[in-house]
Amino acid sequence: MLIDTLQDRLRAAVTQVVPEAQTARVLLRPCSNPAHGDYETTSLMGIAKERKQNPRALAEAVLAQLDVSEACETVQISGAGFLNFRLRESALGRVVAEAARHEHLFFSRAAAPRSVVIDFSAPNVAKPLHVGHIRSTFLGDSLARTFRALGHRVVTDNHIGDWGTQFGMLLLGWKSSLHPDALARDPIGEMERLYKEVNARCKEDPSARDLARAELVKLQAGDAENLGIWREMQRLSQSQFDTIYQRLGVRFDHTLGESFYNPRLPGLVEELAKLGIARESEGALAIFSDGASPPKDDPFLIHRDGEWQANPFIVRKSDGGFNYASTDLATLEYRSREWSPAEVLYVTDGRQQLHFRQLFAAYRRWHPEFTARVEHVWFGSILGEDGKPFKTRSGDTVKLAELLDEAEERALALVVAKNPDLPEAEQREIARRVGLGAVKYADLLPNRQSDYVFSWDKMLALNGNTAPYLQYAYTRTRSLQRKGVELPTATEIPEVLPLPTPAEQSLARHLLNFGFTLEAVVADYRPNFLCNYLYELAGRFSQFWENCPVLKTEDPALRASRMLLGDVTGRVLQQGLDLLGIETLDRM
Ligand code: ARG
Repeated sequence: MLIDTLQDRLRAAVTQVVPEAQTARVLLRPCSNPAHGDYETTSLMGIAKERKQNPRALAEAVLAQLDVSEACETVQISGAGFLNFRLRESALGRVVAEAARHEHLFFSRAAAPRSVVIDFSAPNVAKPLHVGHIRSTFLGDSLARTFRALGHRVVTDNHIGDWGTQFGMLLLGWKSSLHPDALARDPIGEMERLYKEVNARCKEDPSARDLARAELVKLQAGDAENLGIWREMQRLSQSQFDTIYQRLGVRFDHTLGESFYNPRLPGLVEELAKLGIARESEGALAIFSDGASPPKDDPFLIHRDGEWQANPFIVRKSDGGFNYASTDLATLEYRSREWSPAEVLYVTDGRQQLHFRQLFAAYRRWHPEFTARVEHVWFGSILGEDGKPFKTRSGDTVKLAELLDEAEERALALVVAKNPDLPEAEQREIARRVGLGAVKYADLLPNRQSDYVFSWDKMLALNGNTAPYLQYAYTRTRSLQRKGVELPTATEIPEVLPLPTPAEQSLARHLLNFGFTLEAVVADYRPNFLCNYLYELAGRFSQFWENCPVLKTEDPALRASRMLLGDVTGRVLQQGLDLLGIETLDRM
């Protein structure tokens, strides 16, 4: 692809001037100010600084070695030592023609694929997937899709919460007040009811608490009956999770769950104690600060009452039980050994930030040889229109399945109003894609670290930065095919597509930035970059479609080229939406 070629040429020129320079760091990116050109590099500044050289002098020397004249109209030095590249119109037309021939879709697969483990969704057994898992599921899935599209090796692992003290109460409830009919109808709903009931009983009645505790101890000791019930709870929950994942088009390579690591925990914790990484404190075993980093960067310290105090990472509780922390240490050990990842991502809400900072620091102390990039990809909350955490009208947490039902219903009402004559099955299929797409997109569009207000009207609007708007733009790119107009075949496509008007050039320029956008998504773990890219693409497509007649154009070469430009735009929209987990339709 053109951009790879430009980048290679730039690196070669840098090597000519500075043979020892690490050229992997020399990057091209879209110009921050389009008035200066199409692409820029700011990487020469760093190299100049390291060598205590004048950056402009270095830029001039590199420029003298650079041969990109067939693709670029100009390459200019600007500012303190940037290089700005302006493409020739013919180079633009050539890249679009390649895409029209399906040689690429404006991005390249990684030359050096990385292994990336993505931990996302991770609901808990016997509890419904609720809004708290929505962002994790959508973000994680979209990141997995994007890494894969770029040619990386992705391992997705659903770290289900399937172990812990809640099972004492669940077992007690299961044995004392299970409604089998309700269980058959809605297993998670029934288990949730049991949990709430026993939890309330335990609050009032200490003997109930003892009974729950005894059930838990039996489970942990491997009692056959309790293990059997626990497995059944797991199985029933998993089958309900699977139904939702299927509906959302989300899949996992592994679902190991917390309990998978149980056998490893005693040995692991003992090892940490032996190595002096964890020590006894008030009956528990915990990891404390080793003083290696400044207090403000030390996750084992907390500033309280005007001083730095210990903020330990407990790996074994005072009752001898293991916990979320020890389990996550075992999980990272397993992932590291099994999949040798270059990156491990944890997609959860922002409230778990401290846990992950402590986990990563503790793990590096335990395994100093571990060099993978570990990242807590955290996100903010979903709020109701009142600005408070998103709840149902009766104040309950919103269940994901019910939310998706409502999305489809609302979309159906819109589709029926707009297209009353379509067959019902088609109306429903449109509503399904639009409804799910709207919910996903509304979730992926905001910066993940900010809270956002959940608004049906906003997310379903046909005008605005929404999934329905982009899905509609896609249907417009398909309008000629719908009329039965045939696209030129690969051999009929010229080497260079003519792009005579500003609207065509502006659209083509934006198409070329698709690859940069995908790289930015995986560098910062932010699918919102892709949302905004697609929104801009749809806007430029509209400009083109309204200003550049296709079928009414006399010149057959121009007519063909406009059809192809519309078609590749449609394919980028479709591919981009697919990376967000959103389906397109041919009409709506
Ligand atoms: N089950 C947890 C929750 O619902 C999320 C687990 C995230 N993954 C991890 N390895 N800790 O909050």
